[in-house]
Amino acid sequence: MYTIEADGLTKKFGDLVAVNNLSLRIKKGEIYGFLGPNGAGKSTTIRMLCGLLRPTSGSAIVGDFSILEEPEKVKQVIGYMAQRFVLYDDLTVEENLRFYAQIYLKDYKQAVRQVAEMIDFFDLQPYRKMLARNLSGGLKQRLSLTCAVVHQPSILFLDEPTAGIDPVSRRVMWDMLYQLAGKGITLFVTTHYMEEAERCNTIGFIWQGKLVANDTPQRIKETLIEHDILNLKATPLQQAFDILKGLPSIIDVNIYGDELHVVVQEATAAIPHIKKELESNGILLEEAFQMKPTIEDVFVHLSKEEGEKRGEDE
Ligand SMILES: Nc1ncnc2c1ncn2[C@@H]1O[C@H](COP(=O)(O)OP(=O)(O)O)[C@@H](O)[C@H]1O
Ligand SMILES: [Mg+2]
Repeated sequence: MYTIEADGLTKKFGDLVAVNNLSLRIKKGEIYGFLGPNGAGKSTTIRMLCGLLRPTSGSAIVGDFSILEEPEKVKQVIGYMAQRFVLYDDLTVEENLRFYAQIYLKDYKQAVRQVAEMIDFFDLQPYRKMLARNLSGGLKQRLSLTCAVVHQPSILFLDEPTAGIDPVSRRVMWDMLYQLAGKGITLFVTTHYMEEAERCNTIGFIWQGKLVANDTPQRIKETLIEHDILNLKATPLQQAFDILKGLPSIIDVNIYGDELHVVVQEATAAIPHIKKELESNGILLEEAFQMKPTIEDVFVHLSKEEGEKRGEDE
């Protein structure tokens, strides 16, 4: 039923708890989005699940194998596209693929056949003879992805596959991930782009090593439904932010570009109250309306709640 089952995974680096008692279950063929800010513990979690890094405590089963007892078998059934995946600059697209294919596939003919198939599947035909160093950023990512699946793994770990590439390439990359999921491959994808969360079947949000949310994007958004969110435009924005932050009736407020997202108990009652407070401080409220929470609103909110809880513990 589950392809990945992690139970209490913990990794400490000295005093730092990089991953803290993390448990999760992922079904076959799912796209699992693993989100969190930089330093949250995403890469460390992936490296443990891939059998590359031994946890301090806890365990996981990945594709029927224990990461503690059978890490070599785990490596056979997974593909891993690391955050800084290494392509050989001086090799062509095809040569890079053959190199990775031959690491796993001992049979040369099978490796060649598999490479040809993958070149077709990922539309790399026009670039086959190009040196990797001459590829655009998006194509380098596409080639890295192809290298990571050339041995036909059943589970694919991707560590920030869309980081630093342009929006069009990001979309192409996601199209390819859907195609892989369509073939029954389970995908574990990390990203810090919140809007990519919506593309996943399930998302986990990790914050300072702890998994603070794990559900479908829809249900995660509903966790904020007990509160309302307002979208405000006010001038000057920073001053409006400072004032709202100090009001006891405001649950949370965050700046997004030239807008504020304000979490309140109830929108209709809050708007006139906010308007009055801002105007009495000489701030112009240009616009105020209730909005649906975005995934990012929820995560920011969850992170703050978690931060407050910890503040109280200490
Ligand atoms: N090999 C290591 N030695 C010491 N600290 C590490 C090591 N790897 C990661 N860390 C620390 O663990 C935390 C989580 O890192 P990482 O898993 O890379 O986060 P993310 O991928 O979410 O950005 C960070 O504070 C990072 O500095
Ligand atoms: Mg990382």
